[in-house]
Amino acid sequence: MLAVETKNLTKMFHKLKAVDELNLEIKEAEIYSLLGPNGAGKTTTVRMLTGLLRPTIGGATVLGLDISKNLQEIRSRVGHLTETPALYERLTVRQNLDFFAKLYKVPEIEIKPRIEEIVDLFELPEKLDEPAGTLSKGMKQKVAIARAMFHKPELIFLDEPTASLSPESAKIVREQIVKLAKKEKRTFFICTHNLFEAERLSSRVGIINHGRLVAQGSPLELREMRKDETVTIFRFSTWEINTKEFFEDMKIEIVDQNQDQKYVSVIIKDIEKQTPSIINSLAKNNFQLVEVKHEFPTLERIYLELVELEGVPREENSMEEN
Ligand SMILES: Nc1ncnc2c1ncn2[C@@H]1O[C@H](COP(=O)(O)OP(=O)(O)OP(=O)(O)O)[C@@H](O)[C@H]1O
Ligand SMILES: [Mg+2]
Repeated sequence: MLAVETKNLTKMFHKLKAVDELNLEIKEAEIYSLLGPNGAGKTTTVRMLTGLLRPTIGGATVLGLDISKNLQEIRSRVGHLTETPALYERLTVRQNLDFFAKLYKVPEIEIKPRIEEIVDLFELPEKLDEPAGTLSKGMKQKVAIARAMFHKPELIFLDEPTASLSPESAKIVREQIVKLAKKEKRTFFICTHNLFEAERLSSRVGIINHGRLVAQGSPLELREMRKDETVTIFRFSTWEINTKEFFEDMKIEIVDQNQDQKYVSVIIKDIEKQTPSIINSLAKNNFQLVEVKHEFPTLERIYLELVELEGVPREENSMEEN
């Protein structure tokens, strides 16, 4: 069974097509990240999948259940960290979690130990009995994440979970996500702008722009789309003034050079064939080479390229809301 399957999922806000015939398949126990520029339709997609918005056209199943028929059951089995989560500011962290637990019908006997457990996981124990309103922004976010995971849902939607978190808090959250996906086979659907995080965390990413899916695959698969743009870095122990000329003479494109740090970055057309001969030639010409490194294009580079390529004016694709 797929954790999420959307079929031509579309949402119109008057003339604006916020989500445009989206077809996604998210597998169980997968960590899937949806990437896209501001206004691309990520939050709208998640809001449809969790029943906060009704699709204009198309549909979806969540945990095998139809979003147009089984919302009640879907809601009880998924977790959702919304884009701007709100806590009851006057209630303590414990009371917030307790309230949520009762709403989700977590058995009374399990609530207290679960609060201790989850608060420990996110390193919040000293704040447990403080009013939520007195917590910092990042701490509130961690409580909201803990709340979304509290009832141990099979599928968890996280809309920009680490956006307001410090690096160490973001790391804790990432570790919990990976652990839950691996050990407990829970599925994560994450909306994020953090490409570095998406690359390290996700089994697959989808990139949307103007509500449409423009690319999908594992981070490595996406980076391999531009394998030909792999940059090779040559680093030297001493810098020779004719370094630039050497590469130019070999008809190799230089993308960057740094005299202080003694390196050049170049694009080599056929890495396997050409690299050894370049190294040989450098040695013959008395260049003091200390390191050769090949770097695939980053996910960020692929993302920016795809998003810029797909910059079709939205009006062309608009249609009236029915
Ligand atoms: N309730 C609404 N009414 C009208 N338009 C809306 C509504 N919600 C979202 N939109 C519009 O739909 C488009 C998609 O918005 P959405 O919030 O899904 O984007 P997003 O990808 O989550 O962006 P961000 O990265 O900024 O969070 C935007 O143009 C937005 O202005
Ligand atoms: Mg959003």
